[in-house]
Amino acid sequence: MDLCVALDLPSAEENLALAESLKTYNIWMKVGFRAYIRDGKAFIGALKKINPEFRIFLDLKLYDIPNTMADAAEEIAKLGVDMFNIHASAGAVAMKSVMQRLSSYENRPLVLAVTALTSFDEENFRMIYEKGINEKAEQFAKMSFENGLDGVVCSTFESRAIKNATSNDFLTLCPGIRPFGEDAGDQQRVATLERAYEEGVDYPVVGRPVYRDSDPKGKVDEILKVISTF
Ligand code: C5P
Repeated sequence: MDLCVALDLPSAEENLALAESLKTYNIWMKVGFRAYIRDGKAFIGALKKINPEFRIFLDLKLYDIPNTMADAAEEIAKLGVDMFNIHASAGAVAMKSVMQRLSSYENRPLVLAVTALTSFDEENFRMIYEKGINEKAEQFAKMSFENGLDGVVCSTFESRAIKNATSNDFLTLCPGIRPFGEDAGDQQRVATLERAYEEGVDYPVVGRPVYRDSDPKGKVDEILKVISTF
């Protein structure tokens, strides 16, 4: 299980200070909309400068027509990040186009597909997808697996069923982790690290419980201690 910390702070300086405080840890850094839209490619470089070993997940959740997604995927590969994601609902053709375009890259980034956002509850999810979260997440995961993606973004509660329906090696990255019962915020389906471990989660993502803590480094330390007992 590899911890992924979300860098969702209001400025590049604060995100970089957080990364600096965590530079001795072997962890993933998640760069999302807020940081990437504001600070762009230079921010990725600045993170790598702090620790070249940081692995970077660019969480931009691509959703567009297949050719546009493949173009974007290629630009992302050139950035040298280690993982990025697309929306599964962009469909099988988009998935194939993205994977085909990346096939010539020797060290291509891992590609994950977002199944159901962890902020959805059952009722609001059905209003859009007309199916329950479990059923639809599994269907999206199978489609992602069949089209050569490396894994999915899902909630902890779908992780095991998705692995059973695809492969144990098919990666699950799960936001909405509240390591020690912290406030859920806008997340609807939150889980502890122990539950994430039981459900086979590969990458637990933790944002607010780390960066809103008065001692983020101490928090990461506690989290890694728990993970090391699994
Ligand atoms: O602060 P918190 O721990 O809830 O952060 C979760 C992070 O994961 C946020 O950056 C959010 O954008 C991201 N995310 C998510 N649900 C998804 C995909 C990404 O919450 N399905």
